[in-house]
Amino acid sequence: MTPNNKTTEAGDHFTQATKAAKYIRSLTPLQPRLGLILGSGLGDFADRVDNATAIPYSEIPNFPVSTVAGHSGRLIIGTIGGIPVAVMQGRVHAYEGYSMAQVSFPTRVLGLLGIKRLIVTNAAGGINTRYGQGAIVTISDHINLTGANAALGPNETRFGPRFFDMTQAYSPALRLLAKEEAAKQGWKLDEGIYIAVLGPSYETPAEIRAFRTLGADLVGMSTVHEVIIARHMGIEILGLSVVTNMAAGVLDQPINHEEVMEIGRRIAGQFTGLLTALIPKLANKT
Ligand code: HPA
Repeated sequence: MTPNNKTTEAGDHFTQATKAAKYIRSLTPLQPRLGLILGSGLGDFADRVDNATAIPYSEIPNFPVSTVAGHSGRLIIGTIGGIPVAVMQGRVHAYEGYSMAQVSFPTRVLGLLGIKRLIVTNAAGGINTRYGQGAIVTISDHINLTGANAALGPNETRFGPRFFDMTQAYSPALRLLAKEEAAKQGWKLDEGIYIAVLGPSYETPAEIRAFRTLGADLVGMSTVHEVIIARHMGIEILGLSVVTNMAAGVLDQPINHEEVMEIGRRIAGQFTGLLTALIPKLANKT
């Protein structure tokens, strides 16, 4: 591929995301200030959005559509506690075969819609044995072991700079707000380091032991690409993981996807309670 082609590709990405954002704006006058990406089993939170305009991903120009059961694909623009939000009910993953450009596309669109803060949520395996199944954990940092980077390829300066900082990718201030809110609601929000793998196979016990040695507390197959893209665009991040299962080898039992989905549903009340109270505080924090 010639450098010239590459430049065209970056421009195309911007043009395509702009087109998607324009289509979304044509359906609602609301201007979302905050984005929320709902992970596996956590999609029901979307029902909490008031004044909702729900847009199937398949109707948004260039938007990738998930192939995984349990990941419904809709963008919901509406309000939570009076705050205009853009909620992604479902996401696409690299393990489905999507390119980095496709995986990063929805986050680009959220950025172009004008969000300043993004809450990324996911189902994760618990590497740290301090966590129990069903624990909600805030992400303090990540290790990207997926072998790819969402900002790979020619840089589009209208999105952000070529090289960008990741030292406080997960905002300490937003994390603190989340911990305070959880405490107010009567439970302790732990924090931990999320290691991202490509998937779709779950890990081997040897891999989990290695990841623990590397300093990881949680393992999953999403999130880091969205966080990289959001940081590229200067968006602040709060990351929340639901420990749907203990990681491979921690317990003497296999991991299955149905269980992952079921735990998400079981903690839905706690998760919803936290997010509903947190969103107005997060959006209004200066
Ligand atoms: N590993 C990777 N991804 C996951 C897991 C896991 O154990 N649980 C939920 N998502």
